[in-house]
Amino acid sequence: MAIKCSVTRPGWRAFTSALLAMFGAAAPIAGCASGTTTRSAEARGEFLFASTSVSDFAHNSFACSTCHGTLVRGPFDPGAKLAGAPSRAHFWGGAEVDFLRSVNQCRRAFMGASTELTASDGDAQDLAAFLLGKSADGATEPFTMVLRIDALPPGDAKRGEAVATKACARCHGDASGAGRLTPHIPSIITDFQNAHILYTPSDRRLIFTEKVRHGGFLGYGGSMPPYGREALSDQNLSDLLTYVGL
Ligand code: HEC
Ligand code: HEC
Repeated sequence: MAIKCSVTRPGWRAFTSALLAMFGAAAPIAGCASGTTTRSAEARGEFLFASTSVSDFAHNSFACSTCHGTLVRGPFDPGAKLAGAPSRAHFWGGAEVDFLRSVNQCRRAFMGASTELTASDGDAQDLAAFLLGKSADGATEPFTMVLRIDALPPGDAKRGEAVATKACARCHGDASGAGRLTPHIPSIITDFQNAHILYTPSDRRLIFTEKVRHGGFLGYGGSMPPYGREALSDQNLSDLLTYVGL
C-alpha cells in the first residue's frame, strides 16, 4: 500500500464519539514522519474504501466500493449505502450489532481476508472516520434475505440486459465475460450454461436464482455477495433470467 503516514489516533470509542461530536470536520493529521504521505484519517479511509488492499488475500479483486455506495446506494449495489454506518444500532438486517464485526464479515466472506480488523487497527479507524465524516445519521438500513426460492414467471429480456449491465457487469463483465474483474469469474451466460450443461433447463433456472439470492451463503461456496430484496426485486430477477436464456 502506498500510504505510509501513521495517523495518531485516540482509543476507538473516544475516537468514534469525538468524530460524531465534531461531525463534518476532518480528523487531525498527526504522526507523519517527514517524507511520507500526509493524509487525514478520513482521506485515508476514503482511499481504503475503494482499494482491494483492505483484505490481506493476494487474489482479492473487490473493494468495499465494488458493492457499497456511501451517500446513496448505487444502482443494483448488493450492499447498503454506508454513510454513518459506524453509528448504526444494528447491521445485516438485525443479524449483527457491531460495526467492525459487520465489516469483518464482508472482508472474510467476500474478500478472502484471513485476519480480522480490530478496534486498534488504523485501517478500521480510518474506514470509520471516512464513513462517519459522510454522515452522522445512524439510521439502520434494511436487508431482506430471500430464504425460499420460488419459481419466477418469465420477464423481459431487454430490461434484463439493463439489470445485468448495472448489477452484474462490475464483476462478471458483459455477456461474453469481457471486462470481468478477474479471469476466474465465470460469465453469466456462456460459462454458467457450460458448467451446468448436465442439468435440466428448470434446474439451471433454479440454480441461477439460488446463486443470485444467496451468493456464497446458505451452504453455497464462493465469494459472490447475496442479493436481498432491497438490491434486486423478483421482477428484476425474472427479467435477468429471461435475458440469460433460462
Ligand atoms: C462483494 C460485495 C461486498 C464487499 C466487497 C463488501 N461488502 Fe459490505 N456488505 C455486502 C452485503 C451483501 C451486505 C449485507 C447487506 C447490507 O446490509 O448491506 C453487506 C453489509 C455490510 C455492512 C452492514 C451494513 C448495514 O447497515 O446493515 C457494513 C458495515 C459493511 N458491509 C461494510 C463493508 C466494508 C467497510 C467493506 C470493505 C472492507 C465491505 N463492506 C465490503 C457486500 C459487500
Ligand atoms: C462483487 C462481485 C460480483 C457481483 C456484483 C456479482 N457476482 Fe456473480 N459471482 C461472483 C464470483 C466471484 C463468482 C464465482 C465464485 C462464486 O461462485 O461465488 C460468481 C458466480 C456467479 C454464478 C455461478 C456461475 C457458475 O458457473 O457456477 C452466477 C450464476 C452468478 N455469479 C450470477 C450473477 C448475477 C446474475 C449477478 C448480478 C445480479 C452477479 N452474479 C453479481 C461475483 C459477483
